Amino acid sequence: MILLDGKLVAQSVKDDLKNRVNDLKLKGQKLPHLAAILVGNNGASETYVASKVKTCEEIGYKSTLIRFEATINEETLLEKIRELNEDPDVDGILVQLPLPKQISEEKVIDTISAEKDVDGFHPVSIGRLVQGLPSFVPATPYGILLLLEYYKIETKGKHAVVIGRSNIVGRPISILLSQNTPTGNCTVTVCHSHTKNIKEICLQGDIIVAALGRPEFLSGEMVREGAIVIDVGITRVEDKTKKSGFKIKGDVKFDEVAPKSSYITPVPGGVGAMTIAALMKNTLQACLNKISK
Ligand code: GUN
Repeated sequence: MILLDGKLVAQSVKDDLKNRVNDLKLKGQKLPHLAAILVGNNGASETYVASKVKTCEEIGYKSTLIRFEATINEETLLEKIRELNEDPDVDGILVQLPLPKQISEEKVIDTISAEKDVDGFHPVSIGRLVQGLPSFVPATPYGILLLLEYYKIETKGKHAVVIGRSNIVGRPISILLSQNTPTGNCTVTVCHSHTKNIKEICLQGDIIVAALGRPEFLSGEMVREGAIVIDVGITRVEDKTKKSGFKIKGDVKFDEVAPKSSYITPVPGGVGAMTIAALMKNTLQACLNKISK
């Protein structure tokens, strides 16, 4: 069994990005600039956004963090997004999700200019992705592809079973794995809450992507010997022995599944560790797209 080390691969992606930023500096070109909007003070969102801003600093990008109270009205947020759309210095815009109930996530995502949609959530980005055109790939699926690529895992002809059909992970990764690309060409089965015989389907998977958000859902008896297992789960569960009061659990029963797997991602330190690196790649791409226009 080989651990797919997200921390290691993320560091290698970030090192590469740092070098590319240095090249831009040497050429006197504009440096990538990510604008992040955080509404309210949800603990997990605070942590993620702080990490995104810190990673920008590490790599040498410019970043702007805009904070709003949880009680903000929708129009104020949309107006800020329009302002950032028009700002020629800003390359990428992200609005951290989830948002308070009074704000429509759909409207927020629609308002972000597709050219600056480094989260890859805009219908234009998803539409381009489905058509196999160059697009911003959402950070989690992109992180998974980068892991497969780094470890030179052959995907061609394999049966990939994706558990979960969210817009952010399950749906895009199922499409990406089926495309005619070096990290694609799989036969893909998407499982969800109405799937019958999920155990039998998982047992047919050469690759299993567990992205349903249910801690320790995938057990040893659901996985065949030699499977490649990608655990996307990052659920916070109470743990009084930890200073934070919680620990992060994946969607895979690691102790049962790891001995049967050929490759497996740990939690934490697997897919989760890759997502910010993937976002940073999208941000550089947004900046380069503008330069080449
Ligand atoms: N909330 C959870 N994951 C994400 C993400 O990738 N981007 C944004 N904007 N919000 C999130």
